[in-house]
Amino acid sequence: MSDELVELAKRRGFFFQAAEPYGGVSGFYVYGPQGATLKRNIEDSWRDRFQVEEGHREIDAPTIMPEPVFEASGHLDTFDDMLVECPECGESHRADHLIEDNTGIEDAESFPLDEVGDLIADHDLHCPNCDTPLAGEPVEDFNLMFETDIGPGSGQPGYLRPETAQGIFVEFPRLKEYARNSLPFGTTQIGKAYRNEISPRKSIVRVRELTQAELEHFIDPEEDEPPIERVEDVEVRLYPTPEQNADEGEYIVTTIGEAVEEGIIASDWVAYYVGVAQEWYERIGIDMNRFRFRQHLAGERSHYASDCWDAEGEIDGDWVELAGISDRSDYDLSKHGEYSDDDFTVFRQYDEPKVVERATVEPDMSYLGPEFGGAAGDITDALQTLAERDRSAFDGDEVTVEADGESYTIPIEKTGFSVDEVKESGEHITPHVIEPSIGVDRALYTVLVHSYEQDDVEDETRTRLALEPELAPTTVGVFPLMDKDGMGETARDIAADLRANGFDVTYDDSGNIGRRYRRQDEVGTPFCVTVDYEGLEDDTVTLRERDSTEQVRVAVSDLDDILADLRSGDRAFSNL
Ligand code: GAP
Repeated sequence: MSDELVELAKRRGFFFQAAEPYGGVSGFYVYGPQGATLKRNIEDSWRDRFQVEEGHREIDAPTIMPEPVFEASGHLDTFDDMLVECPECGESHRADHLIEDNTGIEDAESFPLDEVGDLIADHDLHCPNCDTPLAGEPVEDFNLMFETDIGPGSGQPGYLRPETAQGIFVEFPRLKEYARNSLPFGTTQIGKAYRNEISPRKSIVRVRELTQAELEHFIDPEEDEPPIERVEDVEVRLYPTPEQNADEGEYIVTTIGEAVEEGIIASDWVAYYVGVAQEWYERIGIDMNRFRFRQHLAGERSHYASDCWDAEGEIDGDWVELAGISDRSDYDLSKHGEYSDDDFTVFRQYDEPKVVERATVEPDMSYLGPEFGGAAGDITDALQTLAERDRSAFDGDEVTVEADGESYTIPIEKTGFSVDEVKESGEHITPHVIEPSIGVDRALYTVLVHSYEQDDVEDETRTRLALEPELAPTTVGVFPLMDKDGMGETARDIAADLRANGFDVTYDDSGNIGRRYRRQDEVGTPFCVTVDYEGLEDDTVTLRERDSTEQVRVAVSDLDDILADLRSGDRAFSNL
């Protein structure tokens, strides 16, 4: 089925490979005239649900960021996939995908490298390109980030962001100011991310330049609770890790309220966004019989996640990850706080001031200065950090600290160490992050796959995309029965009027009317308006619905309102 869809996508301007005149480049796609609008409509619908309805705000950060950002985030060290290279033709393959595709083993991504190497040998897997055996070939980590130089010459090393999220985390010190230092608050971003995938595949399902719609919800894990009642009745199909590990594991069909109560989803916040995501995917037309939430196995989780549930859609018999809903804990903000010079905490005010013991140092600089020279300042900072972390380090006659990679030993009486009682009105905490991260390309592809249908109309097979009216790139096709006797002018006037009222309209007067309907069915246009002789007499048109092919006659003066209601779902066509 995907082959037919990809062919349609190319022919009718949904998406196609980039730079085809130069041979194409794997993993890069262009959204054509239909696809770009469909993508924008999906993004707008995401904004509506995850941002506007939730009261969050959007930012737009750069796609290239300097190296230290990714040292801190952990992507330089750990954002890897498993690579195995064919010794004969040199083609690179994703080792875990080779196993999953050829053995029926699932989630090979969660296995260690040596186990993956063993599985390739045990199952005698061959290169899909030239059929050379791959047993014994090294399986290695391959970092997926695209590297670049910022500025001329050797410049400053930078990377194209592998997730839009880092553009939000890095700017947290400013964002918290905007939020007046008060939790919880959410920041969203829709934008490009880049991953140098080892083997891009399934057209836009695995690309090297992708679009993500991400929400980073900053919370105080001890104080803040999600408005779970808003989604507690939402029904979901869950596939938690114990079921995946069981011999005959099954889905659990339940509501968000029950999933929380029974501890199937450990975090209320993650459960909340699982509910929101369920509602949204249903709204954009994903077939709920081909949709589930699967919990990540322990070995599969990203380096930053303490729990993650993937939204998955079924395509051609395979489950494809559409989104990850993660509890990122305080991982990202703590790391940026540690690696940068800025403050990634917020102040949590106590209900009542508390008297607490505070360990401080006040080193004797007339000793530290002459003894350690320029390192004295760093030593003072290191002593203070140690005093806060481990008072017992000051129990002996001397204390040793690390500063700038060197060890320094200082007599205790020169540190000015003391423990005093102080009154505090609050404390600094590092917020935790709950992240629904949605892949826009995969959402679009799954919407197309799940809405692709063929049926018989007037003894002919027709292909139609049963797209939701809210998403369809064209809301209405406007046709004159024939371009004569004033029908063409009237139809063009109606098209212009509808466009002026914000509808995406296609005007078409070529070929017989049946062909024109088929052309619109194939790109998912939900409604068509035809001007005929009768309509010229009484200022009416016929309005046709794509899925039922039913037609009703409506007054031209009512057309705007009727189409607006049909598009928003406020009125059903059958009620006209
Ligand atoms: N910030 C979290 C994050 O990036 P992820 O699971 O790596 O998490 C989130 O990516 C979503 O982005 C995925 O669920 C998927 O829909 C999409 N995605 C990831 N890699 C992709 C690729 N190479 N091509 C298309 N979509 C991709």
